Amino acid sequence: MMAKALENNGATVYIVGRRREVLDVAVREHSKFGRIIPLQGDITDRSSLLSLATSVKDRHGYIDLLVNNAGIARNLFPHPLPSPTEPSSDSGASIKAFQDALWNCGSPSDFTDTFSTNVTAPYYTTIAFLELLHSGNTRRLREQGQQVPHGVSVPYQTSQVLTVSSSGGFRIDAKVLSPSYTLAKAATTHLGKLLANLLAPWGIRSNVLAPGVFPSEMTVAMAPGVKLDPTSMAANVPLKRAGTEEDMTGTILFLASRAGAYVNGAIWLVDGGRVSNITSTLSY
Ligand SMILES: NC(=O)c1ccc[n+]([C@@H]2O[C@H](COP(=O)([O-])OP(=O)(O)OC[C@H]3O[C@@H](n4cnc5c(N)ncnc54)[C@H](OP(=O)(O)O)[C@@H]3O)[C@@H](O)[C@H]2O)c1
Repeated sequence: MMAKALENNGATVYIVGRRREVLDVAVREHSKFGRIIPLQGDITDRSSLLSLATSVKDRHGYIDLLVNNAGIARNLFPHPLPSPTEPSSDSGASIKAFQDALWNCGSPSDFTDTFSTNVTAPYYTTIAFLELLHSGNTRRLREQGQQVPHGVSVPYQTSQVLTVSSSGGFRIDAKVLSPSYTLAKAATTHLGKLLANLLAPWGIRSNVLAPGVFPSEMTVAMAPGVKLDPTSMAANVPLKRAGTEEDMTGTILFLASRAGAYVNGAIWLVDGGRVSNITSTLSY
């Protein structure tokens, strides 16, 4: 959705994924000007990241925006979880049934993989693309007719890292979908905030995008017994619907454009009010 919105409105967009055929379909279906460029790579692999950054540098020389978008969801709880007040039996479920449900939904290595993709990878991706983000700043300074000094001077609209977290990363309620996903996304959000300060001396902004429920491969291809489909999840959204392509298009065009140039260190929540409906670290 974001790549399509950006390319259809004039940007050159490099998209990265491990499956070449999925990238090719995205290019075929969403490119309007032939400027969505597929790059096969694995963001959890440092040598792959370096080769991705080198490809973009050789072809383009700079970037204005890095979107840390890739994410995975594992360790999905079955719903409803066995409960002592389960209405289907007089005595409710046993603690053993509850324990088994939690123990058996994925493995510790699923936790590790989730943190690797959702937290470690956006960190290293950002580092791998820093030089190109800096080149985006110096290029825009030149366009504005400003001298590029030895020190850091920043253009009106600076380069930006946008890290995609999730409104799920704020959840502390008992109906949380996945412990590893929620915990990792809490760290993803923290990373985006931390980067805003770490990169500030270089005039590079960092923001966090925290979507609620949007239809995608992640949410539509649900595991058996797991309610992770946009329709059932949308029932808990105050606006009574999942997010749409139009919602995401407006959000990314705002954040990527001059209109959003003063947004820095922000957590941009686009969830139809869902997280305010549940107990979360945003509750007050
Ligand atoms: N959809 C929602 O409702 C929702 C809500 C909140 C937050 N989010 C977040 O939004 C982001 C996008 O999610 P989505 O719903 O679009 O999920 P998706 O349909 O599963 O897409 C995830 C993408 O990440 C890529 N990816 C995963 N691991 C990768 C790796 N190691 N290296 C390179 N690419 C990798 C996948 O491609 P390959 O498998 O081919 O590598 C895929 O294209 C994620 O961070 C997700 O957590 C989504």
